[in-house]
Amino acid sequence: MARNDETQVARRFHDATKYLEVPEEVNPQRFAMGTLPNVENAIWQEDWSIEPVPPYKVYEDLPRIEIPLALPSMEVAREIPQGTMPALQALVAYGDEPQGKRVPDRDTLVRIAMLSNGFLKTGGHRADGTVIEYRTAGGTGARYHLEEYFITGDLEGLEAGIYHYSAQDHSLRQVRKGDFRRVLMEATGGEPSVAEAPVILAMTSTFWRNAWRYKGRAYRHAFWDAGTTMTNVLAVAASLELPAKVIFGFADAAVNALLGVDGDREATLLLATIGRGGDPAAEAPPVTALNHRVRVISEREVEFPIIGETHRGSSLASGTEAATWRAHPLVRLEPEPASDRMVALRPLADDALPAMPIEDLIRKRRSTRNYDTDVAIDFEAFSTLVDRSTRGFACDALAPGALPLHEQFLIVHAVKELAPGVYKVHPQRGALELVKEGLFREQSTRLAAMQEYAGKSHVNSYGLTDLDAVLGAYGNRGYRLAQFEAALYGSRLHLGTHAVGLGAVGSTSFDDEVVEFLTPGREQMAYLFVFVFGKRRRKAAS
Ligand SMILES: Cc1cc2nc3c(=O)[nH]c(=O)nc-3n(C[C@H](O)[C@H](O)[C@H](O)COP(=O)(O)O)c2cc1C
Repeated sequence: MARNDETQVARRFHDATKYLEVPEEVNPQRFAMGTLPNVENAIWQEDWSIEPVPPYKVYEDLPRIEIPLALPSMEVAREIPQGTMPALQALVAYGDEPQGKRVPDRDTLVRIAMLSNGFLKTGGHRADGTVIEYRTAGGTGARYHLEEYFITGDLEGLEAGIYHYSAQDHSLRQVRKGDFRRVLMEATGGEPSVAEAPVILAMTSTFWRNAWRYKGRAYRHAFWDAGTTMTNVLAVAASLELPAKVIFGFADAAVNALLGVDGDREATLLLATIGRGGDPAAEAPPVTALNHRVRVISEREVEFPIIGETHRGSSLASGTEAATWRAHPLVRLEPEPASDRMVALRPLADDALPAMPIEDLIRKRRSTRNYDTDVAIDFEAFSTLVDRSTRGFACDALAPGALPLHEQFLIVHAVKELAPGVYKVHPQRGALELVKEGLFREQSTRLAAMQEYAGKSHVNSYGLTDLDAVLGAYGNRGYRLAQFEAALYGSRLHLGTHAVGLGAVGSTSFDDEVVEFLTPGREQMAYLFVFVFGKRRRKAAS
């Protein structure tokens, strides 16, 4: 694949899955997906008889591996031991620390999986009356669709193999026996961290579980939710003093075949190495076809072809292609601030960070949609969150120390010492640039697809990218990377809010209106990710 030339697939997908408001005569629902005149209803969810249930993968013929803390799920979340590292420190670990040999054991892997894709608690009902089982990481519409697999050498408590984390009973199931890490070394074109890793995590999406509601846009959600979930994975790994690195360059078909997923209905989104050192990878057994019985989640599934087209069109065929693909990461240059209206951030020092560890924070996190519009949030807390969220993470396709692929804009409604307005974040200067002054609560609500919580919150944080530059550097696969990267940065900040007594929620937005409002005149910009945060309004005592 000539990576710089082929970008049409990603562009077509982006245009076909934009959200916008349309006149009533175009679509009576007003809220549509696509680009005029080619628009369609945004939300599907038409046939409740085929609602994907349960929202997790169940291997019906594989025995569960007994592990300690095999309690009902909510209790597991509560019983998992706390780390000692402050959450705001764990959240910003780059991923290469600490140095030296670091080999996780079985219980450590289960702990990472639990705190990123396990059950948190039940609560609330869906429109059809079923109870929602919330997970430890948020997910678009609670239409959870991600699975985690571990490809391991011999570890303490676990023989070499490929394991699926089974959320339903908080356990592992062995999908293959044997050390298959060499298959991944080849599929990634010899990515150095893979060669050193005792464990490689593979994250997949079963697109239908999300697409049943969101149609083709589920493919964006795959990378948003992967970013949200990987925030937990990386932070918990950091808290356990395990290095970790995200890998986006791999031969898709080879990895899917290894996991025994078809690459179409369920596909690998990313890999991540966990730990360093231990026994070197042995010669891998042959990768035979797998026929494990998996629980049917819908009697019939509907295909949204743009998902498959985009995924196939952004796939890599071999390890050699993967190595070439990642060889020249985009190093974005930031122009000088356009104005002299700069505000220096005033973050808390490391030794003044709140002590709350990441495990506790994950247990307490839930989406916040009710904000206290009578108060402003503290500038130090705000500065700490923004400052910490701009630090990078180890990823094979991103240059260490480079600016993120996206630009971050904050619509500030109520932060002490800051004039309300739109600010651009300048990570390397530790500063914000005021680009538009004013109280934009109404505009925030409108941009977030008319969701009022965005206008009532204290800050909206938007990630936008120059799509020409990203696709020019990475081809179609850059679209996956850009969505994921913006989501991961955003989710770090999102999660961090809870450490300073605030709350947050992800959102969806009207694509073109966001670009017009935040980066007027820059048509190459694309809206990627938004979440909002602030001080929660406590329920009035009755
Ligand atoms: C990327 C992302 C986008 C989201 N978008 C919206 C949204 O547009 N509106 C909304 O009410 N909630 C949104 N959410 C919140 C989810 O609905 C929420 O995470 C899910 O219901 C699980 O609940 P919890 O976060 O309280 O665990 C979003 C979450 C994520 C991670």
